[in-house]
Amino acid sequence: MNTDTLNVSTVESKPFDDQRPGTSGLRKSVKEFQQPHYLENFIQSIFDCLATCVGKTLVLGGDGRYYNRQAIQIILRMAAANGFQRVMVGCGGILSTPATSCVIRKYQADCGIILSASHNPGGPKGDFGVKFNIENGGPAPEKVTEAIFKRSKEITQYKILQSADLDIDKIGTQPLGNLTVEVIDSVADHQQLLESVFDFDQIQALLTSGKFRMCFDALHAVTGPYAHAIYENRLGAPSGTVRSGIPLEDFGGGHPDPNLVYAHELVEIMFAKNAPDFGAASDGDGDRNMILGNNFFVTPSDSLAIMTANHRLIPRYKDGIHGVARSMPTSKAADRVAEKLKVSCFETPTGWKFFGNLLDARLASLCGEESFGTGADHIREKDGSWSVLYWLNILAARKESVEQIVREHWLTFGRNYYSRHDYEEVESERAHAVVDGLRAQLSGLKGRKFGQDEIEFGDDFSYTDPVDSSISDKQGVRINFTDGSRIVLRLSGTGTHGATIRLYLERFEPDRLRQNRQTQEALADLIDIADELGQIRKLTGRDKPTVIT
Ligand code: G1P
Ligand code: ZN
Repeated sequence: MNTDTLNVSTVESKPFDDQRPGTSGLRKSVKEFQQPHYLENFIQSIFDCLATCVGKTLVLGGDGRYYNRQAIQIILRMAAANGFQRVMVGCGGILSTPATSCVIRKYQADCGIILSASHNPGGPKGDFGVKFNIENGGPAPEKVTEAIFKRSKEITQYKILQSADLDIDKIGTQPLGNLTVEVIDSVADHQQLLESVFDFDQIQALLTSGKFRMCFDALHAVTGPYAHAIYENRLGAPSGTVRSGIPLEDFGGGHPDPNLVYAHELVEIMFAKNAPDFGAASDGDGDRNMILGNNFFVTPSDSLAIMTANHRLIPRYKDGIHGVARSMPTSKAADRVAEKLKVSCFETPTGWKFFGNLLDARLASLCGEESFGTGADHIREKDGSWSVLYWLNILAARKESVEQIVREHWLTFGRNYYSRHDYEEVESERAHAVVDGLRAQLSGLKGRKFGQDEIEFGDDFSYTDPVDSSISDKQGVRINFTDGSRIVLRLSGTGTHGATIRLYLERFEPDRLRQNRQTQEALADLIDIADELGQIRKLTGRDKPTVIT
């Protein structure tokens, strides 16, 4: 079909000034996204930043939250009007973030759009989001997101095809103008890739042994279909292993964030008498994970360290790993493992996009963030299903409990007590006052003593990417102590209301006899020092954090 004969409209529009992508895409309330032209402007800004859309392939999907389906129809029509050749869209509009990354790579697509606000609540009063991924399958790096933001402030029009909605619930190919829309199975490609990474036979033997019970909570978000297909149908776990496995537009009214606070139903099951052996949950778009044992919680930082230490049990890594990377606020537990294994360990700013270059350059194989995210070089996003399977593979190979594996790890490498305190929805000026107050003190912190604790240095983290030499500065205040303990403070880049202060606390404990304390108790001195230096309670007017993980 000739483009002239297509029913393409060029719609006049005015720029919005608030379309700067944050840590992970553009996140706003559904109401903001539903303003006339708001979504369209942002999508056109993305398209305008590509050298050309003509002849390109886009992968499109989302976590199924409210407004997912409408947004997909709009983007399909815009892709057609802008000259894309092919859009691969997840059936029903469903594609988890890791599955999208997998599909982009597998089919050598040029880019991807993921409709998700990750772990933020959904529904008409909840949040919506748009993430843009590049051809390596990973989140667009800062230079791209900044270019999109710049474009969004200049944009005066967008292009859209006038046409009826497409049926996105039927697998197969349909034309939309000159565009070919291919509705694909949401799970199959990702499952196939995971089968190539892990020992599915060994995991299947564990899950069907009758001696091992697992409980997975999809929190009514995107991982339900993946979990049903992989854990129950393929690996033989009894039906009922997967809870809340049907994606709902409002996530059942819950907060799809896999942590001890928001995944409380799973936590109750796993901390009851006669609890299952293994529990796990994922977030809205399937890139996060929480790992639990019978009456036992594994911190995400420990999870990364344990994965690194046990990599030879995983078929894909049986011959070794290139290195490991963690975000700056993530505990240094993985560093100790890397040191012993004599592989590199990288410290990057918060956000998965900083791992992409390291993975592409084969400098790192495994990556992790304290925010319940672990993943690897099989794709360019963190991967909840991969993380669960990694643990299942370790459990199947070692035939020990989760708790035994973690405790043995602490005995070998020492324990990094770790916690994050979030002060959510703080007035923006108050939150900035805390950060500015700390920044102002940084040069005078060295050598200051608080009881036993002496500050080794304080700085505002700056990262120079070892591959492309790009610099990202002001990535969070770090206060390091001479014994390896740390206080880190930064503002969230994913919130949609006010500002969220994240305070990260870490104390290293090599003494085997002192590895069984309660985390908050072991960190109590550091919590006090953080408040003394940051005046958090006074400046925010809050007497305690909103969420402790
Ligand atoms: C948070 C996490 C960060 C993660 C991001 C997306 O970002 O802290 O590690 O990559 O969500 O899942 P933040 O709100 O802290 O900017
Ligand atoms: Zn997520």
